[in-house]
Amino acid sequence: MFPVVTGKVMSRLQFKKITTHSLQEMKNAGEKIAMLTAYDYSMAKILDSAGIDVILVGDSASNVMAGHETTLPITLDQMIYHASSVVRAVDRALIVVDLPFGSYQANSKEALNSAIRIMKESGAHAVKLEGGKEIRESIERILTAGIPVMGHLGLTPQSIYKFGTYAVRATEKEEADRLLEDAILLEKYGCFAIVLEKIPAMLAKTVAEKLKIPVIGIGAGKFVDGQVLVLHDMLGMNKQFNPRFLRRYADLNHIMTQAFINYINDVKNKNFPNESEQY
Ligand code: KIV
Repeated sequence: MFPVVTGKVMSRLQFKKITTHSLQEMKNAGEKIAMLTAYDYSMAKILDSAGIDVILVGDSASNVMAGHETTLPITLDQMIYHASSVVRAVDRALIVVDLPFGSYQANSKEALNSAIRIMKESGAHAVKLEGGKEIRESIERILTAGIPVMGHLGLTPQSIYKFGTYAVRATEKEEADRLLEDAILLEKYGCFAIVLEKIPAMLAKTVAEKLKIPVIGIGAGKFVDGQVLVLHDMLGMNKQFNPRFLRRYADLNHIMTQAFINYINDVKNKNFPNESEQY
């Protein structure tokens, strides 16, 4: 059974529009931040009217929308297409867009140009980059253009071929220390929030306590300032992806399959359309 949710859930702090400052106020007030991914107009419209705080146009679109094995193939043009579809749907949520692999790693000028294209061509509100001190110049250069930056540490899927596996990161002291140091630096560079992906809950707790900016977790336990999940995973559209951290709030795979079967049967059996469904 899935939890039954009725009514619209709004921030307890009652923001008309969510900004980076609203997220900081939520952390300061101890209110958790709810973030989900979206990649298209229809889903984003539902999410926004349900009261989500942050919509991430994640490069996970490469997996769940395009069917690639990794996030690496998605292009900047494709991210802008997804982001502008989401922007047209949203009145309230803060919209953050991933800079895709290859659009910011070469140098800070390219990073700035990519971030400017996202902001100008999609109308989104902020960008997210994966990495720590190695991308300092890019973060600082993007910020000088007035573009808010969200960081992303831990399991950073754009580096999957370096990691070799999607296993939990920073379980050893050396990597945990490096992650904490990077998180502190990201705050110092000016990031307005960071995502921590698939790391031990106690390490994520330490990071969230040390940092003033909001820390949003995916597979990083309950002690952080907010949570993010990939929309298709939390809706149960994909039966193959079953990490421990994933809570499914619906079984859309089942519901949609049943709807498709019913439609096919109705067409085959000449039950659709009926008299009242024709002109
Ligand atoms: O691309 C994405 O969906 C993400 C989340 C997993 C945080 O980066």
